[in-house]
Amino acid sequence: MTIREKFEAAGQGGVFRFFDSLDDGAKNALLGQLEQVDLDELGSLLKELVFKTAPAEAGIDFSKLSPAPFKPLPADKASDPEWAEAKKIGEDAIRSGRLAAFVVAGGQGTRLGFNAPKGLYKVSPVKQKSLFQIFAEKILSAQRKYGVSIPWLVMTSHINDAATRAFFEENAFFGLGKNDVIFFKQGLMPAVDANGKIILEQKGKIAMTPDGHGGCLRGMCRSGAAEELKKRGIDCISYFQVDNPLVNIIDPYFLGFHIKSGSEMSSKMIPKAYALEKVGHFCELGGKMRVVEYSDLPKEYQERLDKNGQLEFRAGSVAIHILDRAFVERLGGSGDGAKLPFHRADKKIPCVDADGNQTKPEKPNGIKFEMFVFDALPMAKNPVIIEGARGDEFSPVKNAEGVDSPLTCKNDQKKQAARWLKAAGENVPTSPDGAPEIDLEISPLFASNEEDFVAKWRALENKPEIKNGLYLE
Ligand code: UTP
Repeated sequence: MTIREKFEAAGQGGVFRFFDSLDDGAKNALLGQLEQVDLDELGSLLKELVFKTAPAEAGIDFSKLSPAPFKPLPADKASDPEWAEAKKIGEDAIRSGRLAAFVVAGGQGTRLGFNAPKGLYKVSPVKQKSLFQIFAEKILSAQRKYGVSIPWLVMTSHINDAATRAFFEENAFFGLGKNDVIFFKQGLMPAVDANGKIILEQKGKIAMTPDGHGGCLRGMCRSGAAEELKKRGIDCISYFQVDNPLVNIIDPYFLGFHIKSGSEMSSKMIPKAYALEKVGHFCELGGKMRVVEYSDLPKEYQERLDKNGQLEFRAGSVAIHILDRAFVERLGGSGDGAKLPFHRADKKIPCVDADGNQTKPEKPNGIKFEMFVFDALPMAKNPVIIEGARGDEFSPVKNAEGVDSPLTCKNDQKKQAARWLKAAGENVPTSPDGAPEIDLEISPLFASNEEDFVAKWRALENKPEIKNGLYLE
């Protein structure tokens, strides 16, 4: 069968409706695009998620849902025997080169409204460093501390891959070795209209959108990145999102708990700041851990208190995980076995009208299909969840204004710097919410956690004056 016949047989012949009017180059480009579409996979997604003739995953029986257990954060990690043991295990594994860092940066960042890959967004309070630079410095500082190469996987999408790579080149990889950064592109899925027909974005181009952060599992396998990690002797992957400059990328405690528990996927939880905070919830259902999204958990569950007066479902998921490479290969590889499910999202998708003119819809006109990485959790053996301190782990830049915006993120970075200085015995004038009145910035190259900061600050012979614009590197 020709490609055209295959698409017609699948009821998708509409993608050829302007084909005869295209020049040869455009015809070939469209055919090349169509070759990437898995029509069988699309057919089942249409049945499950668009026409609903095949049952999608059964709904959650909330009466059987309980909060997932987690390792609570002790008052002093370093002197808690269990946490200290985990740290030692984690540090040994880092030193022996078993860990890679991994950022998913293939999203479109529409809420922020920034016209470039989100990793280029400048967020730091004094030096206006980009998100990518901050992550690179965290990794570089860990490489120096542990005397080992820590490769960094960067997942991009077809939309932002070239601009992302160019940014790293222009900035000389922020001091990292070129060989330490491994880019790969995530997969694409065709977007469809309400009748399940693939949308034409232009006369000779179908609408394809990134397959969600969960696409990283198969993206890592298909691109050869997983194989490359294997060659380098790496079996643990520290997963984080591009929008969170506070993330503690190389965390020996977290890695140690992961290894000690024989876990295939571990997650960090942060207690929710308030009942209806828009984060997922770590839950247990039928003996399996899972994340239930804020949009899926009924309000009464989100607000319910336990006997200590704390939110019962307070374990918020902030998209920080450790994945075993072998687990990624099992779920993302071409073999049989469980795969991540797809979800539908109704979106505004640029398209052509009946005459082939390009239009930008004002309301959602199409459906895109995405996978979520946290759906891997119920498939993981021995998953472990540990608590993290929000101020040292999580402050994402999601929106242009309001919550989770550049302003809240800058304040959280300043608060962290002030807290660390106070822990080292310095006096930093702050407002009641802990935000310093001056701009401060600590480069991860100076220290990337409080313990290291305090030791390094105390050892400084000539301590700089704590004043507006203080920058430590
Ligand atoms: P978000 O859910 O915040 O989505 O992604 P987004 O596309 O970046 O932003 P909005 O919703 O359009 O404003 C969370 C993380 O997952 C990555 C993002 O880059 C971010 O690090 N992601 C998301 C991918 O890598 N690929 C995707 O297909 C979707």
